[in-house]
Order: sequence, then structure tokens, then C-alpha cells
Amino acid sequence: MSHAVTLEKVILENLNTAVLLFDANLHLIYINPAGEMLFGLSAQHLIGLPAIKLIHCPDDSVERRLREAMDTLHPFIEREVHMKLGDRAITVHCTALPFHHPASEVKLLVELHQVDRQLRILREEHLLAQHQATQALIRGLAHEIRNPLGGLRGAAQLLQQELPEPSLREYTQIIIDEADRLQKLMDRMLGPNRMLRRQSINIHHVLEYVLDLIQAEYPEGPEITRDYDPSIPEFMADSDRLIQALLNLIRNAISATGTRGRICLRTRVLRQFTIGNRKHRLVLCVEIEDDGPGIPKALQEQIFFPMISNRPGGTGLGLPIAQEMIHQHGGLIECESQPGCTRFFVYLPLDSGHE
Ligand SMILES: Nc1ncnc2c1ncn2[C@@H]1O[C@H](COP(=O)(O)OP(=O)(O)O)[C@@H](O)[C@H]1O
Ligand SMILES: [Mg+2]
Repeated sequence: MSHAVTLEKVILENLNTAVLLFDANLHLIYINPAGEMLFGLSAQHLIGLPAIKLIHCPDDSVERRLREAMDTLHPFIEREVHMKLGDRAITVHCTALPFHHPASEVKLLVELHQVDRQLRILREEHLLAQHQATQALIRGLAHEIRNPLGGLRGAAQLLQQELPEPSLREYTQIIIDEADRLQKLMDRMLGPNRMLRRQSINIHHVLEYVLDLIQAEYPEGPEITRDYDPSIPEFMADSDRLIQALLNLIRNAISATGTRGRICLRTRVLRQFTIGNRKHRLVLCVEIEDDGPGIPKALQEQIFFPMISNRPGGTGLGLPIAQEMIHQHGGLIECESQPGCTRFFVYLPLDSGHE
């Protein structure tokens, strides 16, 4: 028997999932090491606390459901519960299992399984797959359009030379101009086809250069604050493409906030960070935050597709082009948006990523 007890303890202590045991008053009586890790506090500090203090959600539904589970003896599983731990927000799957054994002090076992990382990996895989599908579509389409377009333009030119009536040339000129416009659009969608010209760059020099361009473009502001981490090392990148990507993102932020808004540029280094399915030792994150109206939920899934725009005069090419430029560097752009706070994260590996 005693052997079984230690075995159970060994299992509990070594689980990756946080396990919490509560008494009849929903006060904590045991927490395993994974739980201490999750809360960032030792069991000593946690034991005795009521469940509502521990599993603290914006709505009180979980507290109510824990109590219900205990009263009705029905277990429950709640997926993607958003919990607050101090000033950290995390997402967990929460499982609660009630016990009815009268002799036992334990009345409820709660498992918390943090899923932020999995959710982020899923989201990134989705973004990458979306981007690859888009690029394949554009390449295929460009190929199909280019050749006939060249033929069309050439024929219109020949026709123009043969036209007896000069006033009719207006029409052939329209064909030629429109063919050129379409050609330019295709070129922009395809992006530059030269190889990356990598050189050692300092991200803050790149950002300051972009800000100079923005300053010239919008002399009236908005207010742009910088929150730079000066310890970021230089790394190999194609500065022209980084400039293009960052310009696109900052221009979008300005069109969202107008010249009265506030924009913040933040740089950080992240350690042991995965982009797609590659784990990197060091990753640079450049964050562009604005206090504009945000991106409507329904649009958020689509903004990296070409031709998606809800701006008058917008081409819908800024974000897909920026995503492609960053993708060429092994990086990724992600977005989080709610009214009053939109943040674009540009992740760039600082190592070669072969880990
Ligand atoms: N910072 C932002 N705030 C609000 N909406 C944004 C922001 N950035 C992008 N968007 C939305 O994403 C759409 C696509 O952006 P983009 O690809 O640059 O195309 P465009 O700027 O030509 O519309 C924009 O039309 C806008 O609706
Ligand atoms: Mg844009």
C-alpha cells in the first residue's frame, strides 16, 4: 500500500500538467510542482488559497462551474480558459473531477494544462500555410497573365501604327496603358525576384531610417515613441526588404490612427522561440503598436491575403508583401488587434535557425 502511495506521488510530482486538489470549501490543499511552475509560486504560498483567487478569469464562470461540479459530482472540461496570473494572461484547458468519498478531505481535483504555446504554433502554421498558398497562386496567375498580356500589348502597338485615323489611337493607347498597369501590378505582387542581399545590419538603424521616410511623408505626426532594447546584436539581412516591410506596417498604422494617433515601436530579443516549426535560440521581435480603431474580427483572418483592404484607395498588397519580405528571412509577421490597440509583431531569427 505504502508503495502505491509513493508511486502516485512520484507520478503527480513529475506530471507536466498542473494538478490542484481542493477541499470542500474550494480551498487549495495540494499543488504539484508543475502547478507551482505555472503560478510561479511555491506550494507554501499557494496552499489555503480559495479557488477563485487561483483560477482567476475575467468572467466568474469557472468558479461557478467548479462549485457546481462539486455539488453535482459531475466532472467538467472547459477549453481555452483565459486566466490572469498577476499581470500575465495565460490560456489553459481546465478539467475538474469531483470526489464523493466521505473519508477523503479532497473533494475536487483540477488539472490545468497551459495551451498558449500550442495555440500560437497552430496560428503560425496557419499563417505560413496561408502565405505559401497565396504565393503559389500569385506565381501561377502571374505566369498565365504575363504572356497573353505581352501579346495583347504588342498587337495594340502594331494596330496603333496602322490606324489611318489618329483620333482612333486614343483607344489603342488605353489598351497599352491598361496592359502596363496590369503588368506593374503583377510585378508588385510577385515582389523583387533578385536574391536576398544580406549584410550585417543594426535593426535600430533600419528603424530610424524608416522613421525618417515616414517623417518626410507625414510631417504633421502622429506621435511615434520608441522602446528599443539596445542590446540587440547585429544580424545578416537584406535591409531594403526590411525597410519595405516595416514601412508597409507603419503606414498601415498611420492610416488607422490618423496623424493624431500614437504609435509605438518596440524591439525585443526572445530566447528559445519557435517560428513555424523551427526553434531558434535567439529571435528579434519588432513590434508596431497603434491606438487606432483596430481590425474587425472577421477581417483579421484575411489581412495577409492579397487584395484584402477596407481602405478607400487601398491595394491590399501592403501586408502580403511585408509578410513575403519577412518570410524570405525565415521570419513571420503576426497580428493581434482590438479596438484601441493593434499590434503587429515581426519575428526575425537572429541565428541561422538550424537547431
Ligand atoms: N494597424 C492597422 N489598424 C487597422 N487596420 C489595419 C492595420 N493594418 C492593416 N489593417 C487592415 O488590413 C488591410 C490590409 O492592409 P494592406 O495589406 O496594407 O492593404 P492596404 O493598406 O492597401 O489596404 C487594411 O485595409 C486595413 O483594413
Ligand atoms: Mg497598407
